[in-house]
Amino acid sequence: MERTLAIKTPRKIGKKVKLSGWVDRRRDHGKLVFIDLKDRSGFVQIVGKKELGELRISDVIEIEGTVNRRPKEMVNPKLPTGKIEVEVKKIKILAKSDDLPFDIRGDGYQIGEETRLKYRYLDLRRPRLVKNLELRHKIIKFIRDWLDEKDFIEIETPLLTKSTPEGARDFIVPSRLQPGKFYALPQSPQQYKQLLMVAGFEKYYQIARCIRDEDLRADRQLEFTQLDLEMSFVEREDVLALIEKLMIDLSKEMGKKVQRKPFPQVKYQEAMKKYGDDKFDLRKKKEENTLAFAFVIDQPLFEWKKEEKRWDAMHHPFTAPNPEDVALLEKGRAAKVRSWQYDLVCNGAEIGGGSIRITNPEIQEKVFEIMGHTKKQIAKKFGHLLKAFDYGVPPHGGIALGLDRIIALFAGEESIREVMAFPVTSSGQASVMDAPSEVEEEQLEELKIKVVKK
Ligand code: AMO
Repeated sequence: MERTLAIKTPRKIGKKVKLSGWVDRRRDHGKLVFIDLKDRSGFVQIVGKKELGELRISDVIEIEGTVNRRPKEMVNPKLPTGKIEVEVKKIKILAKSDDLPFDIRGDGYQIGEETRLKYRYLDLRRPRLVKNLELRHKIIKFIRDWLDEKDFIEIETPLLTKSTPEGARDFIVPSRLQPGKFYALPQSPQQYKQLLMVAGFEKYYQIARCIRDEDLRADRQLEFTQLDLEMSFVEREDVLALIEKLMIDLSKEMGKKVQRKPFPQVKYQEAMKKYGDDKFDLRKKKEENTLAFAFVIDQPLFEWKKEEKRWDAMHHPFTAPNPEDVALLEKGRAAKVRSWQYDLVCNGAEIGGGSIRITNPEIQEKVFEIMGHTKKQIAKKFGHLLKAFDYGVPPHGGIALGLDRIIALFAGEESIREVMAFPVTSSGQASVMDAPSEVEEEQLEELKIKVVKK
């Protein structure tokens, strides 16, 4: 007999069905035993006698039985399967379960993070998290379809690569074939997407995993996901218009209200003066369903690094200066140069950032010079990109949206961990796998690496 999903049982009144799933609840009423069987579609009540008596919560079972209408006084109008029950005829236990380490039916917020993440595969049975991951899937699918409609193509870029500066530390991976040398995991696909513009793709995007060694917070993980996007032959307003339309359409699809359209464009200096922060919350009332988007523009191109006593790029070194400020590109006036960067903020969170890029070699050289890079350093760090620009580089720009933050906003969650399947703890522990961990001595020898124990 073919398997029936719990949700489909009300259509089969009077018929025989086969169901598979987990025991979610058990009630013993003397002679009669009731269990709730749970599968990916929902719950259905099973009724039987002593054959159900030995079952425990989370046992995996397969049953065959008949779908009956419940007696009137037993109907539960809140449940999609609340009018019926399945009278068990045959039962097979497919797997037994130990007692669960915590309750998986509540929202789980009160349970310690370490425990929840150590048993994440159980935590993920929680209806709240199932809903969050389904929402994640829906949002990403919506974005892919939306961009496909507009002629964007998704292209994957390497994970084993060279450092791309995004302001965090790199995670590095030792090379066995070239001992003593290291790959860096990408903080973003920034340079590759610019190379794809040189290649002529014009409209690229990627649902991209980014990896950054930084201190963790509710809205920061070591690994996170960006909607990364780049376009050729565009100016700032083209990128902003595209992203605005995407966010408005996505909000509509997800049943959210957008507070103001078009999105306000707030100058960086004004934001700092008015809100004391470049990510601000424009909601008048913090109603659950409202999203208050805004673009922040005109950021300074450079910021002063106190410890290093030098100017550095506020966004990244490929960000173009505002064309009106190109004449100010010299050390003495660096603080005054506005950039062609833009950030997207929503309800107090920074959910995206991007820029129009430098494609003029003279401007790029001036920018590097102000940042105090020698010619040799530039060649070593960015030579590959600058070389590519010698072969006909189109004007281009793009943006990356922090998908985990966007999904958390849409799900009404405070922390991005609640919308990721397997996040790390706040101390960077991948708890289910217990990583990071030590490696075998032979692996280190092969890589010519010695670990110095303090
Ligand atoms: P940026 O570094 O601003 O830009 O990153 C873009 C967006 O990614 C999100 N984000 C994070 N989310 C979770 N955990 C983190 N550790 C984390 N770090 C960043 C934020 C942020 O706005 N290459 C450029 C984009 C470009 O210029 O096109 C970049 O990565 O929401």
